[in-house]
Amino acid sequence: MYRTHTCGELRIQDISKRVILSGWIQRSRDLGGMTFIDLRDRYGITQLVFNMETNAGLCREARKLGREFVIQATGVVTERSNKNPKLSTGDIEIMVDILTVFNESVTPPFTIETETDGGDELRMKYRYLDLRRDPLKNNLWLRHRMAFEARNYFNSRQFMEIETPMLIKSTPEGARDFVVPSRINPGQFYALPQSPQTFKQLLMVAGYDRYVQIVKCFRDEDLRADRQPEFTQIDCEMSFVHQDDVLNMFEGMVKHLFKSIKGIDLNHEFPRLSYDQAMEQYGSDKPDIRFEMRISDLTTAAKGKGFTVIDSAAYVGGLCVRGCSEYSRKQLDELTEFVKKPQIGAKGLLYVKYGTDGIIKSSVDKFYSADDLKIWLNQVKAQPGDLILVLTGERMSTLRALSELRLEMGNRLNLRPKDVFKPLWVLDFPLLEWDEEAKRFFAMHHPFTSPKTEDIGLLDTNPGKIRANAYDIVINGVEVGGGSIRIHNEYLQKKMFSVLGFTPEEAERQFGFLMQAFRYGAPPHGGIAFGFDRLVSLFAGEDSIRDVIAFPKNNTARDVMIDSPSKISNEQLKELSIKLNIKKE
Ligand code: AMO
Repeated sequence: MYRTHTCGELRIQDISKRVILSGWIQRSRDLGGMTFIDLRDRYGITQLVFNMETNAGLCREARKLGREFVIQATGVVTERSNKNPKLSTGDIEIMVDILTVFNESVTPPFTIETETDGGDELRMKYRYLDLRRDPLKNNLWLRHRMAFEARNYFNSRQFMEIETPMLIKSTPEGARDFVVPSRINPGQFYALPQSPQTFKQLLMVAGYDRYVQIVKCFRDEDLRADRQPEFTQIDCEMSFVHQDDVLNMFEGMVKHLFKSIKGIDLNHEFPRLSYDQAMEQYGSDKPDIRFEMRISDLTTAAKGKGFTVIDSAAYVGGLCVRGCSEYSRKQLDELTEFVKKPQIGAKGLLYVKYGTDGIIKSSVDKFYSADDLKIWLNQVKAQPGDLILVLTGERMSTLRALSELRLEMGNRLNLRPKDVFKPLWVLDFPLLEWDEEAKRFFAMHHPFTSPKTEDIGLLDTNPGKIRANAYDIVINGVEVGGGSIRIHNEYLQKKMFSVLGFTPEEAERQFGFLMQAFRYGAPPHGGIAFGFDRLVSLFAGEDSIRDVIAFPKNNTARDVMIDSPSKISNEQLKELSIKLNIKKE
C-alpha cells in the first residue's frame, strides 16, 4: 500500500493512528535533535518528524533528503506542541519510523512555494513544477468545479453534450484559421474550429434542441492576457427560442456558478444596455460597471468659445471623477501622458477642478469663464471636490480613449475590487462593420447572426445601420460570452452573404453544407458561447487566462516546455506533399 491517507487529511482526532503517507518534500529543517519534513501532495502538507534520540539512523537518512524527493513515510500521528493554524493538518505531525525513497529530484529551477522566485518564462518551461504550487493547483481545482457545475446546470435542463469534430473546414468567427494538411488528400487542408458554430447549427437542424459542449477552439490571432491560440468555450445552442429565452437561460447559468462556486447570490436581473448606450456611457462594448463614472457628452456645451481644440472636434466628452479636485500638477501630467500613449491615442487632456470651496480652476481658463465652465459641471453632474477630465476628437476614438481613462481612474481610486462581480448584457450590436482597408462590410459577430426584424429593410439601403439580434455578457469589463439569434431562412442567409461581399459561388464553397441543411427544415434557433478560461480567471481573481490553463502558450504562441511549434522532418513534409518556401535572412 502506498498510502493510507493523503497529506491534507489527518486531524487531531486521528492521534495515535499508524499511517502511511506518500508525497513530495516541500522543505526540511534540522533543529537540534529533530528533523522536520513538510510532505506535500495535491491535498495538502503534513509535517513528518524524525528524532535523533529515538532513531538516529533514520534521522540521518532523513537529513540526506532534498526538496522534491518523492518519499513514503510510515509512523504514528501525534499532537504537535507547536501548532500551525495556517495548515489544515497543523495540529498534528507524524513520528516516522519507516522511510522509503521512491525517487530523488534534481534541484528545481525555482522555489515551489506560493510566492516563487521563478520568472514567467522559466515557470512555463517547467510547467509541471509550477503546477505543484498552490496558486495554480487551486485555479485548476476551481476550473474543474466550474466545468462540473456548468454541466450540472445544463444536464438538469435537458441539454445534451455532443462532441463536434476538430478537423473541419474554415469557420466563420473572423480570426485566422490554424490549418492541418491532409496526407490522404494531397494539397488539401483541414481547418481547426475557431468555434463549433456551424456544427451546433446543424445539430439544431437535426432536432437536438438543447446542445452544450465544453470545447476547445483555435484562433490564430495576436495574443493578449485574455487570449490564447487554443482556448475553451462553454458552447451552447437552443431551438425555438427568442433572444429573451436565451438570455434568461444563460443568465441562470452564470448565477448558478456564482452561487455554487463562490456562494454569491446574484439575485437581480442583470442590467441590459444596448451597444449604443454602452458606447455612449462607457466608451466600450464591455463596460466595467463596478463603478459609475459615466461619460458625459459635452460637445454642444463646450463649443463656440474660440478654442480650436474643442471647436474643431467632432466630439467632446468628459468624466467626472469624484473627490479628486485636489489632483496635483504631477498627477495630471501623468494622466496626460497616459492618454497620449499610442494605444490610447488622445492628443492631450483638458481638466476642470471644482474645488471643495466652490472655486473652479481649469486648463482652459483662457477661453472659458467660470460661468461657461459651470455649464460643463452641470452637464457631468459635478459636486464641489470633483475633477472633470475632458478629451476631444473624432467621436468613436475619443469615446474609446475616455473608456481607457475611466478604467485607469477606476484602478487609481481602487474602484475595481476583484471580489465584487457586476455582470451585464450588451445587446443590439451593429450587424456589420465597415472595413476601410478592404472597402467592404464584415460581420461584427459572424455571418449567421440575424438582423433585427425591423432593420431588415436596411439591407439594401443602409447596411451599416442594421442592428443584430446579438448579445454579449460582460463581467467586470471582461467579455465573457457572446452569441446571437441566427438566420434560419435560406433567402436571408444568401442576402447576408451578398452584403458581406461573398459571391454566390464563394458562399456555396465555404458554407454550402449549411445552406443545404437549411433547405430541410431549420428551426428558429440561437445560442451563445462563454469564454470558459475568462470566466474561470474572473472567479480566480487572475489577470491572465494563462493562470487557469494547465499548459498554456506564451505570448509568442509557443509552448516552451514541449518546444512547439517546431520543424517537421523532410519525410513528413514529403508525405504531406508540402514544399517549404522560407526566405533565409
Ligand atoms: P465569440 O467569437 O464571441 O463567439 O467567442 C465567444 C467567447 O469566447 C471567448 N474567446 C476567447 N477566449 C480566449 N482566447 C481567445 N482567443 C478567445 N476568443 C474568444 C470570449 C468570447 O466572448 N460561435 C460564437 C458564439 C455564438 O454565436 O454562439 C463565438 O465563438 O469570452
